[in-house]
Amino acid sequence: MGTTAIILAAGKGTRMRSVLPKVLHKVAHMPLLEHVYHTAKTIPDCKVGIVYGHGGELVLEELNHLKAEWLEQREQLGTGHAVKQALPVVSENDTVLILYGDVPLTLSSTLNDLVTASQETGFSLLTVTLENPAGYGRIVRNSEHFIERIVEEKDADDAIKSISEVNTGMMAVSGKHLNKWLGQLSNDNAQGEYYLTDIVEMAVTDNIEIKSIQPENEYEVLGVNNRLQLAELERFYQLKHADELMTAGVTLKDPARIDVRGDLEVGQDIIVDVNVIFEGNVSLSDKVKIGPNTVIRNSQIGENVEILANCVIEDAVIGKGTKIGPFARIRPGTKLAENVHVGNFVEIKNSNVANGSKVNHLTYIGDTDIGKDVNIGAGTITCNYDGANKFRTVIGDNVFIGSDTQLVAPIEIADGATIAAGTTVTKNAPAGQLTLSRTKQVSISGWKRPVKNK
Ligand code: UD1
Ligand code: CA
Repeated sequence: MGTTAIILAAGKGTRMRSVLPKVLHKVAHMPLLEHVYHTAKTIPDCKVGIVYGHGGELVLEELNHLKAEWLEQREQLGTGHAVKQALPVVSENDTVLILYGDVPLTLSSTLNDLVTASQETGFSLLTVTLENPAGYGRIVRNSEHFIERIVEEKDADDAIKSISEVNTGMMAVSGKHLNKWLGQLSNDNAQGEYYLTDIVEMAVTDNIEIKSIQPENEYEVLGVNNRLQLAELERFYQLKHADELMTAGVTLKDPARIDVRGDLEVGQDIIVDVNVIFEGNVSLSDKVKIGPNTVIRNSQIGENVEILANCVIEDAVIGKGTKIGPFARIRPGTKLAENVHVGNFVEIKNSNVANGSKVNHLTYIGDTDIGKDVNIGAGTITCNYDGANKFRTVIGDNVFIGSDTQLVAPIEIADGATIAAGTTVTKNAPAGQLTLSRTKQVSISGWKRPVKNK
């Protein structure tokens, strides 16, 4: 006996005012629907069916990596009609969990509790009590507090509108019952829709007690209908992650000013200053310090690394004790080994820098291997691109590159070489020697500065 989660995602989302179907809008860089999918997948032995409709091609294209049954609802005739489209993938012995593709932040523990509650009687609802219940279906209970029916706002009189316990839309129902009840739905109501909520009265008729549970947090049941709500849920998501990070031993200078858009793995005693964004898979080892306004994407940051303000680091591996920034850009394919220093206005792409080397000022290093204990002077440029192809630069250990040097690749600077400032290196530089290319300096005596004509 397993669970089948049916995610309703066919609605249009008019109020998003977007060409994108609503469920593809993102929280923390992940489509709303994908959040729901991943939470459903945390339930043991759970299959997923997704009912799609509006913008179907886009949804399929964007999310075809999800392991789900895709079920098309051609016309949106109501939530009951939507669930009906999924019946072919539901077996009688399953517990069917109904979820909404635009409600992204439900906790996995809440869904587990909902499924467990349904197993007692065959039917459970996730309800919530709201200060302002307007717009929601109201939960009507009898004098013994048993749930009797759900009345949609548009079908409600004033007495029912005053009820503050509402239907979140999430429920768990035995496949057998669902199959039977969906067959009995009609669209005889204010909206002319097939309401899934009508199965509540059918359950009561069949003497099935409807269990109810409530989520721990209100944000778990909030849906996205417009961009204001999208932004609101983004903040809930981020604050929750900030809490988790602090609980795990990370110092955040301001938990309201960090964004995690992906998976962030952390060690201990990490300090993160304000406005830092983590994207994709990032890991931070113990005692990493990150200054303000930095973006780190898909990178591993080693122990004791210090990243100063305003850096952008992408697809990189940074070794222990290395210092980066302020204002440095580390681009894809870069590996900085241990105790490397990268300073301001330095860009490094697809390069390896070995232990103890320094690239401190105003420099471009691309497609380069730099050995140990190398010093790269200010304003050094690796000319790695001839307009058609890219070439590598290889710099040995203990090399000293003077300021304002161009290294025209492919080129090799052997161990211990010194390159004088201002040199354009076009031939390999031998080990241990000084290499320079400069026109001789001359001074002209008696030379007069031009003066302005009167
Ligand atoms: C529904 C519930 C209401 C509940 C509210 C919570 C019904 C009849 N009403 O109302 O009790 O308080 O959710 O938000 O169930 N969808 C489809 N196909 C359809 C219709 C809807 O896939 O034909 C999807 C939508 O994309 C959305 C979800 O189902 O994700 C809910 O639909 P929506 O129209 O927002 O339901 P409400 O009328 O708000
Ligand atoms: Ca809704």
